[in-house]
Amino acid sequence: MYSSRMTRIVTLAKRLTTPLLPDDYLTLFNPLLTFDSYRARVSQVTEEMPGVRTLQLQTVRALPPFTCGQHIRVGIDLNGVRHVRSFSITSAATGVPSRELTITVKATGEGGVSDHLVHRATVGDIVHLEPPSGEFTLPFELPHHLVMIAAGSGVTPLLSMVRTLAQTGHRTRVTFVLGARTTQEMIHRSELVALSEDHDWFELILWPSAALGHFDRAALQREVPDWQSAQTYVCGPPGLLTQVDSIWRSHDALDRLHTEQFQTRLAKINGKGGTISFTKSQRTKAATATTSLLQAGEDADVLMPSGCRAGICHTCVVPLKAGKLRDLRTGELHGEPGDMVQTCVNAAACDVELDV
Ligand code: FES
Repeated sequence: MYSSRMTRIVTLAKRLTTPLLPDDYLTLFNPLLTFDSYRARVSQVTEEMPGVRTLQLQTVRALPPFTCGQHIRVGIDLNGVRHVRSFSITSAATGVPSRELTITVKATGEGGVSDHLVHRATVGDIVHLEPPSGEFTLPFELPHHLVMIAAGSGVTPLLSMVRTLAQTGHRTRVTFVLGARTTQEMIHRSELVALSEDHDWFELILWPSAALGHFDRAALQREVPDWQSAQTYVCGPPGLLTQVDSIWRSHDALDRLHTEQFQTRLAKINGKGGTISFTKSQRTKAATATTSLLQAGEDADVLMPSGCRAGICHTCVVPLKAGKLRDLRTGELHGEPGDMVQTCVNAAACDVELDV
């Protein structure tokens, strides 16, 4: 957050450098210097496994302190267009402003930010960061027992939590269930195994689903019999989250369940879509009932704001000018002119106008 004095300096600098921006001059001296965002240099790249990399990012301007479990929006410029995606921070939280953090990225095969960072980013590349955010965090007062359940790249926010816990003198017991199709596909497995060998507060359960099946109600009861008295943190694909939601709900224990998802859980959609008009961009696109407004806009080459693409970060909101929308997570119809709508989790339910 700038002080008012800093704000005045930036305003003056903008007047003096018009029509360019102060950042345009600053970057002539150092590409990491900027008034308007946090630029970071990729300072280290670690191959975790095929299609998964950890990137260490260093900034000149210190980022605000983050809480373990939070995510950060990372922007890269491809062909002159800024593409932004949210990633969980995997480094331990320090509680103070920081110039360094790590993210672990899994390629999606969709050709976006994740694929670029996994397949093409190299040490020295510049990326754009925004301040960390997110509600998937540990409570200030730790409970006596934490259960963490991660599948696939869902391990990333939970890894930051256990790395942070490992640096403090806490007395909380942690039971960590790490899932993937096979043991070899478990991201950060070696570090978590080492942690379980070094710390008696940390118990690790490896769950290769190809051999053991899904981590279901019976598995939970058998592996973590006292789960109902713990606070549980879960991050993974929609199927896992639907499963845990149903188990905790049936035990009236949702107040002890905390979840983070990387993909949207979609409802069964019946109905028709419509033509979406992106009025500022003067583009239109016919879309089905299950095509998100965000996807339709990108398909029409509209510069759509986006982040997590899963209904979490609210970066994608734009004003609705006309028409009704369908929430892809619930199937419910909604929308009035002037509503700010999340384009990643809504689709057109008729002809629609968006002010973007
Ligand atoms: S992109 Fe994050 S809520 Fe839509």
